[in-house]
Amino acid sequence: MKKENVRDFYDVVWTEYIPEFSESKRHLELFFASDEIRDKEILDCGCGTGIFTNIFASMGARKVTGLDISPGSLGTGRKIQSDLGLTNVEFVEGDMLELPWADASFDIVWAWGSAHHTEDPDRALNEIERVLRPGGSLLLALYKKTRLTWIHEVIRKTLIRTPKSWWVPLARILAFLLWPVVKIRELFRKKARGGESLSELILDWYFVPIRHYYLPETIRHFLESRGYVVEKYHPGSGRFESASNFIFKARKP
Ligand SMILES: C[S@@+](CC[C@H](N)C(=O)[O-])C[C@H]1O[C@@H](n2cnc3c(N)ncnc32)[C@H](O)[C@@H]1O
Repeated sequence: MKKENVRDFYDVVWTEYIPEFSESKRHLELFFASDEIRDKEILDCGCGTGIFTNIFASMGARKVTGLDISPGSLGTGRKIQSDLGLTNVEFVEGDMLELPWADASFDIVWAWGSAHHTEDPDRALNEIERVLRPGGSLLLALYKKTRLTWIHEVIRKTLIRTPKSWWVPLARILAFLLWPVVKIRELFRKKARGGESLSELILDWYFVPIRHYYLPETIRHFLESRGYVVEKYHPGSGRFESASNFIFKARKP
């Protein structure tokens, strides 16, 4: 699978997906206080519809750049930017495996749920590291490898072999079948994510062309071996209580 497949997938699936602003802001504030953002130059790498790009900008960053390969998602991000009247934001279409900036260009690089959808996540991490200034902060959210990962991968690899025109109907059928299970789970814990229907969640989870999973200790080792200081780690408690991600915030030496 190639990056073009990922781009086309997100152009169809993600452009309408706009996570709830205040809920996302509360989540961002778990990692960055306003005074860490003020006057900073920030890259939101694999920004999707730019929710975090626009939140950073609204919190007083000097300039926030949202980069993504999906032009449709960027279009949504630009619309939100214009609705909010933000002037310190730029959305750039590009590949995070070849970031179009010089070394040490940003104070903060935020890469939420994106590196694991690239053809070469190691290269994505190297690129992110390259454009981050010494002393800058890196935020990395990645899919967590669990005992169930292989089952999810068997299902995903089976489903993405079906004709593309089947994907949305298939996701709807799966959502219909899984709905009672999800409702029962919701009685016991918070809803997984705001803004997305169950069929959109299934589409995003099982039909995405490229997906890699990591053990948190692998990423901790990657960061510490390069001299980063891990400042925050959230195990399995990603955006809106999702257990599928883990998150590191680390400072570059
Ligand atoms: C799960 S979405 C996350 C979007 C956003 N970070 C958020 O949290 O709302 C993953 C994003 O990574 C982008 N992406 C995947 N591969 C990419 C690449 N090689 N270069 C840039 N963006 C990429 C996709 O287009 C998609 O918008």
